[in-house]
Amino acid sequence: MARQKWGSRWAFVLAAIGSAAGLGNAWRFPYMAYSNGGGAFYIPYFVALFIAGIPILMAEFGVGQGFQASAPKAMRKISKGAEFIGWWAVITGAIITFYYNVIMAWIFNYLYHSLGVAWKNDPKGFFFGDFLKLTDGPGQLGGLRWPIVIGLFIAWLWVYLILRKGTESVGKTVMWTVPLPIILLLILGIRGITLPGAATGLNFLFEPNFAKLADPRVWANAFGQIFFSLSVAFGVMIAYGSYNDKKNDIANNTIITALGNSATSFLAGIAVFSVLGYMAQQTNVPVDEVVSGGVGLAFVVYPQAISLIPGGPIVQSIIGLAFFVMLLTLGIDSAFSLVEAAEAAAGDKFKINMKSFLIGFSIVGFIFGLIFATQGGLYWLDIIDHFMGTYALLVVGILESIVIGWIFGAKKLRDYINSVSEIKIGSWFDISLKYVIPIVLIFILALNIADEIKNPYGGYPGWSLAIGFLVFILVPILAVIFAKIPSKDEKYDVVEKEITFEEE
Ligand code: TRP
Repeated sequence: MARQKWGSRWAFVLAAIGSAAGLGNAWRFPYMAYSNGGGAFYIPYFVALFIAGIPILMAEFGVGQGFQASAPKAMRKISKGAEFIGWWAVITGAIITFYYNVIMAWIFNYLYHSLGVAWKNDPKGFFFGDFLKLTDGPGQLGGLRWPIVIGLFIAWLWVYLILRKGTESVGKTVMWTVPLPIILLLILGIRGITLPGAATGLNFLFEPNFAKLADPRVWANAFGQIFFSLSVAFGVMIAYGSYNDKKNDIANNTIITALGNSATSFLAGIAVFSVLGYMAQQTNVPVDEVVSGGVGLAFVVYPQAISLIPGGPIVQSIIGLAFFVMLLTLGIDSAFSLVEAAEAAAGDKFKINMKSFLIGFSIVGFIFGLIFATQGGLYWLDIIDHFMGTYALLVVGILESIVIGWIFGAKKLRDYINSVSEIKIGSWFDISLKYVIPIVLIFILALNIADEIKNPYGGYPGWSLAIGFLVFILVPILAVIFAKIPSKDEKYDVVEKEITFEEE
């Protein structure tokens, strides 16, 4: 069976931007920039983007497209022993979908709660109390929260429908789910900057604190943000690249994807901080006491700001809807891209029928997701995300850059990329892939481990963090097992020393 292909160049680029631009752009980037030097953060940010982010993204597109293969198969083509790294990537991504879709479920609920601004003037009590009915700790799961279960069902159904016809249905979806959040961010940003106090908020985001640049942690955070934001190391970009023709341009598309993703982040920063400035002014507290990131920003702080916006409940409901539709359409492309990466991997190796895989995966994802849909689910979401989104990303990123940069050879990959691309890439690509990326990622990993030992994550009880660690460790074991199972495709095992164009 021939490999499926993107219907157009834009289907591919939009799908890639859609995967990269996720909830992190809205709730992680603004907070990162604010707490790491404000306007000065853009220096390490762009340095990281150009010397590490663009090269790793280009390498992922390159191996996916060059080998016409998902992550495990592409790794296998480079070296037999490397296949498990691809599985490590996609299994981690699969676990992420289990809780990512629970966040989608919360957002579905908040679409509904936006109508009439259900949180009134106590968004915190509403979110943790009325909505999550949060227990006292990870040891108490409590019962299922049925509104979340229903949202979770809708999220999986949506993912299934989007992926059902592969690149064809994905291509149709991203034509609107990628531009729509950007348009909504623009609208929210314009409403934000025209509110009194917005300038104070934006000053917090953009005022440069150059002294911060002397702190290595600020640099580590910039590189970390770039890696996380570009959705690399979970096999997504490799799978997406593999649906291109071998002769497709790579360099150009990489740069468009990376810049499109960053533009979404900047826009989100403006939309969020202008409103925070307004809120600080209305409530008479300093801006730095209202800023936050993550779940707290999306479900507590921003809703609070909404209930302060002038114009009464109807205007507030509309802004609430706009905000949560923005988050929903921002997040959905990231969610289904992870499922697509797993599907591509399973399809390549086991020749599984796409539809049965999708149905099976969605059911399994829904069932595992129920853990996070309990009253204690938020704790587990946070713990598992810590190990997957931080540690697994770093370890897979290190291994992947070594396999591509050293075992396959950065120069060889660059020659292939240059042979198909309009823009020619210089030898900085090799230096980046072979030295900069692995060294920086090892440094960040070491910093994280040092912090973790001093200060275990989130103040959770040790046993619960141990379970998170166990999940982290089980993934590579499972990955090795998957790599050992013989493939149904006799060509799967053939190691290719070069990327060639013969079969076309
Ligand atoms: N880039 C996404 C964001 O900024 C998060 C993310 C990281 C992701 N790795 C991923 C999403 C892999 C999909 C696939 O929100």
